[in-house]
Amino acid sequence: MAPSVVLLLLGLLSSVGSLPPPRTSFLLNSAGRPLVHFSLPDVHNTTTLLLSDDGSTLYVGARDAVLSLDVSQSDAIVLKRKVSWSPSETEIQDCQVKGKNPTVDCPNFVHVLQPINSTHLYACGSYAYSPHDAYIDTESFSMVQHGSAKGRCPFSPFQRNTAISIDGELFTATTTDFRGVKPQISRHFSKHKRPDVSQDLSVSLLEEPTFVSSSSDPAERKLYFFFSEVGKEFSFVDELQIARVAQVCKDDVGGQRILQKKWTSFAKATLLCQSPKQLPFNVLQDVFILQPPEGSDASETLFYGVFTSQWSSGPESAVCVFKLQDIRKAFTESYRTFDMQTHQLSLLLGKHSYLGKCGLDNASDSELTEVKRSFLTSSGVKPVTDGPFVVSSGQQYSRVAAMRTEAANGKQYTVLFLLTESGFLHKVVLFDQGARVIEEIQVFTQPQLVKNIVLSSTKGVLYVGTSEGVTAVPVASCSSYRTCGQCVLARDPLCGWSPTRRVCTGLDSSPDTMVQDLENGNVEEACPPETRTRLNTEVSVHLNEAVKLQCLKPSNLATLTWTSPKYKNLSEKLFFQSCDSSLSFFATAATFGTYRCEAEEDGYKEVVMSYTVQQVASPRSMSPKPNVDESYKDIATEEPLTPMIQPAEDPGDHLIEDKGDKFTTSFKDETISKNEDSELKDNFQDNGLNLTVTSRKETQSWKERVDVTCKEKSYYSELVVVSLLLAICICILALGGVYLSRQSKTQVKINPLVSPDAGPELKVVD
Ligand SMILES: *[C@@H]1O[C@H](CO)[C@@H](O)[C@H](O)[C@H]1NC(C)=O
Ligand SMILES: *[C@@H]1O[C@H](CO)[C@@H](O)[C@H](O)[C@H]1NC(C)=O
Ligand SMILES: *[C@@H]1O[C@H](CO)[C@@H](O)[C@H](O)[C@H]1NC(C)=O
Repeated sequence: MAPSVVLLLLGLLSSVGSLPPPRTSFLLNSAGRPLVHFSLPDVHNTTTLLLSDDGSTLYVGARDAVLSLDVSQSDAIVLKRKVSWSPSETEIQDCQVKGKNPTVDCPNFVHVLQPINSTHLYACGSYAYSPHDAYIDTESFSMVQHGSAKGRCPFSPFQRNTAISIDGELFTATTTDFRGVKPQISRHFSKHKRPDVSQDLSVSLLEEPTFVSSSSDPAERKLYFFFSEVGKEFSFVDELQIARVAQVCKDDVGGQRILQKKWTSFAKATLLCQSPKQLPFNVLQDVFILQPPEGSDASETLFYGVFTSQWSSGPESAVCVFKLQDIRKAFTESYRTFDMQTHQLSLLLGKHSYLGKCGLDNASDSELTEVKRSFLTSSGVKPVTDGPFVVSSGQQYSRVAAMRTEAANGKQYTVLFLLTESGFLHKVVLFDQGARVIEEIQVFTQPQLVKNIVLSSTKGVLYVGTSEGVTAVPVASCSSYRTCGQCVLARDPLCGWSPTRRVCTGLDSSPDTMVQDLENGNVEEACPPETRTRLNTEVSVHLNEAVKLQCLKPSNLATLTWTSPKYKNLSEKLFFQSCDSSLSFFATAATFGTYRCEAEEDGYKEVVMSYTVQQVASPRSMSPKPNVDESYKDIATEEPLTPMIQPAEDPGDHLIEDKGDKFTTSFKDETISKNEDSELKDNFQDNGLNLTVTSRKETQSWKERVDVTCKEKSYYSELVVVSLLLAICICILALGGVYLSRQSKTQVKINPLVSPDAGPELKVVD
């Protein structure tokens, strides 16, 4: 068996113990989870985001423009200023002559937006494949073009880079050439008459890196850059990706004879993110820096990294969290050294305490010679939890943000926001028993090559920048939980039930009286008994009409049951329950009566809908005015994870759109005209209720149609499939193992990767 096949199967293995499905799902623009969008017809690719310190202004780098947006109001994003910044005709022609597409590649895509001093922003853009930079006065929003910015941001609009400004100096990690193959970490605009410093290019310090993020460590006067690159220390595996953190010292001025104007402090370490006996998650997608709580030491700073695996056969990702303390430690320990003859990295023996230190400006030539070739630490940085604490099979997470919040009981919780490639934001809470996805919120419909998220924890808003605009997502929408039961079951640390006001609301007001049970979600204990009786909906129909009663799940994890006081159980002879949980039957003397739809989740039962079906009094007055509670209106229960969900013209209602509504409605003695029919339909839909009336003849095809159209996606059935696949894989693996052991002569040096004894470290060829 080819090793790649072995790897593929092992990739599949790691899908065990994955995140449970999201509890609730909100499609784009659903009324239950309002978002604020900002877009302008002439502004595109609003992908670089920078939030002002006070959280009231969002600076946005777009295509050929930089904007400042007023985000001080929670319900609106207002354009404050806009400055155009585009290449000239000739510059675009030059770009085109070099083989680039004038509309796709040659506009100016802003890659860097950083505050450079108290009055100005620094901006760097791809500028017709010829990076340029500029200063922008934050008050007047006037721009002063600076000039060519080669080495400060990429030529390509699509290549990732990172930049951070500290005390007016700019530290960048980017490629520096047209083809985008020469990476460079450097300091620009150096103060105190010291030179700008960059990487020593006589040794290959970075191998095809993709830069993801950067962070400053003021106490150690260091900067960290996060990226993935090709791991050259593993010469036996081609193109093996490795996630890394690199350090440089903020005040490095380079050596005196050796390493002149080059970093004497550059070093890199591997970031490990691997479950025991699994292939590593080795490709870093994003890093979020969570400052420690007030009063804690800076060494408690956490780095949340989203990883994917280069061996995954499907969408799969993991989150690992690293502590600053452990990153610092990795750079003070032992190093590997690059052997100029063999071009391999081997363990450096003996004590070299100067490696990884700041202040080597006056170090001896022999020390700097050693520094030059010893830039990789021998041990990697292990995550706080020793492995990933979130693993998701089925989701390709690409961006992460994290916040700490204090729950009603005074306990601190971490809430993660993970953006999927397909445009859903997953809100994940870490409980003692594991992580749960408490909501998923769709924020865009077209997959985005370039996107960014920024969290304003003070304002409780997450901003998502894409090619289409900027979207503000409130971190919580407590009012979407209409009952105490739903509020408690949600287990959202940001929401609690107020017994006095009888609403689910944020914790800002008197948290000690709020009802919450985050660890167990035990409604019976937390909530006062029966806080709300559901309104009954009266439905009037003719004899022998088909009736369809809708019931929407309050959450993806709830199961629904229909009951009627008239029947012990609703027999299949008379009643048809379709996969969208609606109940259908023919109106007869036997079936007139009351029906209740009950949701059960975590052992807690709640009546979601209650209908009384009765015979219509006069033939024409058949339109019931159902007084339907809309609490569950916008919560999607069908295929919440399907990435291809169409943006509906009428997004508020399309989730409960009746798939069977194409049928004409006919009655015994009269036929309602098409117009009336659609009016009728609209009426029902306006009330969040769908009631389809069809003639008996059409029932058969109608049933089939319902069956075909509402393909309910069951995670559990998927689980079963995955388990089956697993069983098959294990068999194949066992066979493969036999095969491989027979072929021991040609044994691939892949084993250390997956051997439990090898630990999370990959084996190195010495
Ligand atoms: C900030 O930087 C800009 C651009 O270099 C400069 O024009 C301006 O005077 C600086 N402002 C302060 C307060 O230093
Ligand atoms: C390095 O030497 C220069 C003079 O040669 C001195 O000014 C500077 O303070 C020294 N730096 C360190 C870190 O010792
Ligand atoms: C810019 O936006 C367009 C769609 O408007 C998209 O196709 C393109 O990929 C975006 N480019 C970048 C660099 O984000």
